[in-house]
Amino acid sequence: MDELLSVSVGGAFTSGNHPVKVEDIDSLSQKIEETDVFLRKKGRDDAEGFGWINLPYQNLTEIIETGRWLSKFDTIVQIGIGGSALGNRMLVNALLPPFYNELETPLRKGPRFYLLENSDPVTATAMLDRLDLSKTVFVVVSKSGSTTETIAHFLWTWQRAKENLGTKAPEHFLVITDSRRGSLRKFVRARGCRSLEIPESVGGRYSVLSSVGLATAAALGIDIERLLHGAREIDQRLVMRNYLWENPAWVLAGLNVLHARVGRNMSVMMPYGDCLSAFAEWFAQLWGESLGKNGLGTTPVRALGAIDQHSQLQLYMEGPDDKFITIIDVKNRPYFKLPDNIDDDALKDFEFLFGKTMGELLSVEARSTTSALIKAGKPVVYLSIPEVSERYIGALIFFYEYLTALVGLLMDVNPFDQPGVEQGKRYIYSLMGRQGFEEYIGEVEQYFGKCRNIEIIL
Ligand code: PA5
Repeated sequence: MDELLSVSVGGAFTSGNHPVKVEDIDSLSQKIEETDVFLRKKGRDDAEGFGWINLPYQNLTEIIETGRWLSKFDTIVQIGIGGSALGNRMLVNALLPPFYNELETPLRKGPRFYLLENSDPVTATAMLDRLDLSKTVFVVVSKSGSTTETIAHFLWTWQRAKENLGTKAPEHFLVITDSRRGSLRKFVRARGCRSLEIPESVGGRYSVLSSVGLATAAALGIDIERLLHGAREIDQRLVMRNYLWENPAWVLAGLNVLHARVGRNMSVMMPYGDCLSAFAEWFAQLWGESLGKNGLGTTPVRALGAIDQHSQLQLYMEGPDDKFITIIDVKNRPYFKLPDNIDDDALKDFEFLFGKTMGELLSVEARSTTSALIKAGKPVVYLSIPEVSERYIGALIFFYEYLTALVGLLMDVNPFDQPGVEQGKRYIYSLMGRQGFEEYIGEVEQYFGKCRNIEIIL
């Protein structure tokens, strides 16, 4: 059996303040095992929130066919936010070449791809102004079908499309939303545009391996069968490992819970390599929104190696001992060799770099940072994948979804709801005048009034 990912946890047993010991994890072992059984059972029942466990086994026919249709356009603009965008950003970042949109075909194997995410008129206007609408398709993604930012972008682009394309406008829209709920379904039925379903039991931040992430990925030439294959492989290996110290998800779940208990309330995710920077962003939403409840959870911190060695590492090493750090490394990186020899005496000092590869340098940096953190007594986990490709990214995604859900259940929080996010959404509706939400206007004003109570004007 070849390796999918390897997780070294020795560095998480620190000699620093508030150590977590091997026996501490052992004492949680039974609870972890029971929680895993519960998670699996709920997955089999396709219970609300747990449906992501089944996504690696879904039938891809409709998604692949839709991807083919999308790939005929010059440009895809995905409209969505949070879980309806971050997974796409991660896949594109990891699995497409850098500067993808700037490449010409055949180097660029699919349409250009943009995300219309934040409700910032400056970005949105600049993007829309440079599009040829007759060659553009808009992919509107919203599980609830009512998120204000997404709907605002949708209304705006729909109106523009109608003005420019007339009756052909619906042919330039794909809607990905819940199978039944939400006003976007009403729109799909009325206008007859294409649509895909997000399974009811799958929540936003766990949806990257559903139509949400896969439809555009397929159109861009990402091998989505391979992505699911990687997810299936890791799922099957996790099922087989029912002894604590053989199951990396169990050990990491235990470690996360224990470090949180002793006050390490931040989880730093520091992958090495630009192609994994959006993985840290995706992780931050998954972790933050799933665990941050009832005064529990740990704050996800996005970092990027090697850049943050020169920005954040000082704080991680010698600042407050409140962080649990994960370093992600990649064993095989594309070959890029520095010159074997430079015939220039003035550069002799740098001889140690001659003939080395950039990939080697990045991995040396990942290992050095890990060692330096351990020396400083800080808890660190070193995780590596063989290479950045569909198989291993699929495995990594599933592994982190699994880990997050497990940690949430161990902490006794519901890892699949987001009451705080919904509260924010209700306030926005009320201030923007949505019918049925008037009761919140007073509340928003009352609390915002507290903020303005002490106003300092220069
Ligand atoms: O994870 C979640 O449920 C949220 O972060 C959503 O992804 C986000 O709020 C967008 O919601 P929707 O897909 O319903 O537009």
